[in-house]
Amino acid sequence: MRYLVTGAAGFIGSHLAEALGAAGHDVVGLDSFTDYYDVELKQENARGLDVRRVDLAEDPLDFAGFDGVFHLAGQPGARSFGDVFPLYLRRNVLATQRVFEAAAAAGARVAFSSSSSIYGDAESYPTPEDIVPAPLSPYGVTKLDCEHLARAYATSFDLDVVVLRYFTVYGPRQRPDMFFTRVADALARGGTFEIYGSGEQSRSFTYVADAVGATIAALERGPSGATYNVGGGDEATMLEAIALLERVSGRKLDVRHVEAAAGDVRRTKADVTRIERDLGWSPSTPLEEGLRAQWEWAAARVAAR
Ligand SMILES: NC(=O)c1ccc[n+]([C@@H]2O[C@H](COP(=O)([O-])OP(=O)(O)OC[C@H]3O[C@@H](n4cnc5c(N)ncnc54)[C@H](O)[C@@H]3O)[C@@H](O)[C@H]2O)c1
Repeated sequence: MRYLVTGAAGFIGSHLAEALGAAGHDVVGLDSFTDYYDVELKQENARGLDVRRVDLAEDPLDFAGFDGVFHLAGQPGARSFGDVFPLYLRRNVLATQRVFEAAAAAGARVAFSSSSSIYGDAESYPTPEDIVPAPLSPYGVTKLDCEHLARAYATSFDLDVVVLRYFTVYGPRQRPDMFFTRVADALARGGTFEIYGSGEQSRSFTYVADAVGATIAALERGPSGATYNVGGGDEATMLEAIALLERVSGRKLDVRHVEAAAGDVRRTKADVTRIERDLGWSPSTPLEEGLRAQWEWAAARVAAR
């Protein structure tokens, strides 16, 4: 198959593009290499991949000849109030509308990477897909906008699209603004670590290879219009996760509590019944094993600098 991966220089997109290539597919990546975090990291992620520099929010898009589009490009991060909001609109809503337009025109199937952030502080845990979404961050609002656009394009232009809601993905190459990368970096370098709020917030942490497996299964076999939670089996609080990383690394972290961040939810816990039933997917990497892989990657990077 011939696949496009948007956001292929990013954390999850680069793993996905590699996995598709390893499975024998012809893969073209698109990425605008935004400066949300160090562009050198993205160049490293993209090494060995065919990633073309395209801004999905403004460059011409022609998806003819592709069997499927994995749309992962976007502006992530829940800290999305204030002056940065126009970036979220442009890189999530506008870019996604243009991807859907081009995919519908080319008759290419799309797997769209949405987020558990669309749930906000959910009505129930584990959270099933059909609960009323109530995002608490502008980021979550823009991802939900994209889901509505998917439905609109499916209804009016026969867009063949499947939506994946990722729950806190981690592993090697995790973005520098994300929790485990910040913890691993602090452990590797020494010094203090600032945690937002009490540290009792918990997440359904999802190992990146598991998220990639779910995404490929959804594009290959998911019924048109389906929405799936993609969540790890292990739920842990931030403090429990720090303790695990301390154990894995054999080091101790000096933790300081700072004010809770606006837009942070108390808890995420994925109900993965639907994706298990439809696609036979369930998360298979235990948190400690995934954290070991992430720690080894992070420690090697710090040592190399
Ligand atoms: N990492 C997670 O835990 C998580 C959780 C839920 C959802 N997601 C979603 O998964 C996707 C991938 O996340 P990630 O953590 O790998 O993020 P990432 O920032 O590492 O990757 C996103 C990539 O998209 C590119 N991009 C942004 N705007 C673009 C544009 N206009 N044109 C072309 N490329 C553009 C960026 O340069 C970046 O390389 C995102 O859509 C994100 O919202 C991630």
